Amino acid sequence: MTSNLSRRAFLKTSALGASAVALGAPGVARGFPANEKVKLGWIGIGGRWGNLAELMIKHVPDAVNVAVCDLIPDRVERGKKVFERDKPNGYTDLRVMIEKEKLDGILVVTEPCNHSVVVVPVLEAGIHCFAEKPMDTTVEKVDAITKAARKAKGVIYQIGTQRRYSPPHLAGMELIHGGTLGKVMLMQGHWHWAHRPQVPRMVARDGGMLVEQACHHTDVMSWVMRDKPPITCVAIARTEIPTPEGPNVHNEQQSATIWQWPGGEIFSYTHLLWLARHFQTEQLHVHCQKGGVDLAHGVMHRADHDAKTAAAPQEELKDQFADDPRGDWGMGTKEELQAFVANIKAGGKQPINANVESGRIATLMCLMGRMAAVNAAKNAYEPRVVHWKDLGSTTDLA
Ligand SMILES: NC(=O)c1ccc[n+]([C@@H]2O[C@H](COP(=O)([O-])OP(=O)(O)OC[C@H]3O[C@@H](n4cnc5c(N)ncnc54)[C@H](O)[C@@H]3O)[C@@H](O)[C@H]2O)c1
Repeated sequence: MTSNLSRRAFLKTSALGASAVALGAPGVARGFPANEKVKLGWIGIGGRWGNLAELMIKHVPDAVNVAVCDLIPDRVERGKKVFERDKPNGYTDLRVMIEKEKLDGILVVTEPCNHSVVVVPVLEAGIHCFAEKPMDTTVEKVDAITKAARKAKGVIYQIGTQRRYSPPHLAGMELIHGGTLGKVMLMQGHWHWAHRPQVPRMVARDGGMLVEQACHHTDVMSWVMRDKPPITCVAIARTEIPTPEGPNVHNEQQSATIWQWPGGEIFSYTHLLWLARHFQTEQLHVHCQKGGVDLAHGVMHRADHDAKTAAAPQEELKDQFADDPRGDWGMGTKEELQAFVANIKAGGKQPINANVESGRIATLMCLMGRMAAVNAAKNAYEPRVVHWKDLGSTTDLA
């Protein structure tokens, strides 16, 4: 509920670097009457928006969707139709939407390359923001969002890596961090698809397949590592579709990447398209000294290293600790939206599971992977070792 006065001030000054937050926008962290609905605006009415919009209508009764914005007028009309119940106003310019509407929160569902250009002004206007993953497609743009989010004290910036809100993944993480399985040794994962793209996707839009997709899984494994970044990465990538324009222009379709943390822990990951349907799965395994956790299926397997457990039949060494998510990539999406709206009602005081610090590590890990697989100067796939500092991020915390 930022006032129109401060919104106008923001619109006039944000290009020069001043912000509504700095100007003391009154919407930030205000108390919310229990029966008042949270007023939401949406930017980017494309494919993913359809999933989020449906879940918001069905599962978040405390929210009302009062504004939709897209650069494409037909998409604005689609947004208005889907949110018919809430009679939203439509916009093709986010700055006009921010000025005209009294929004409590904005959800950003633009393409990966168009996140920072939207998220930064939203945060500078002092409006709570949920934005889809990855944070963006380059280190510079990830840093831009990181700086804006850290500066916007009391303003929520939540990122759409939904596994951080998925009950089975949360239960698995509690098990791993609880320590009963001992130290984490190795993480292993994959996202394999039967999908056969007819045309290669553009790096300028997505940052590469690893960035667009694997950020969900780098997010889970950096969560296992308590949001500490890895130090080293090696990767090999390739494409099935001939692309004379090279990997600087077109996405890879297959990659194998390994990251290592300072304590020696390894995350070994493959991201493969073009497989037979049988192999289309998501796997996220965390191997500890005393057992392994299968996060994508909610199962813990205790190791039978010692004499006592070695004699036990295999079944007894297995524990279904949570409902089996069956590798469902959508798990946690309804919960992340509920958490965003509940946090707005709480004045931004609740912990944010998928926050700026976790989001930047997940995205930077993927950029690190692509940097290790692609020699940009030669515009060729060429594996090498990359260190965290090679990213050149200006937002690393000491
Ligand atoms: N969390 C998940 O599981 C999940 C699943 C799918 C996609 N995503 C993410 O959702 C995001 C959107 O992907 P998509 O496939 O829906 O993209 P899309 O291309 O279908 O839609 C993006 C829309 O944003 C609009 N847009 C771009 N810049 C804009 C601006 N400045 N102002 C207003 N509108 C603008 C475009 O016109 C387009 O309609 C991506 O970041 C993607 O990675 C997340």
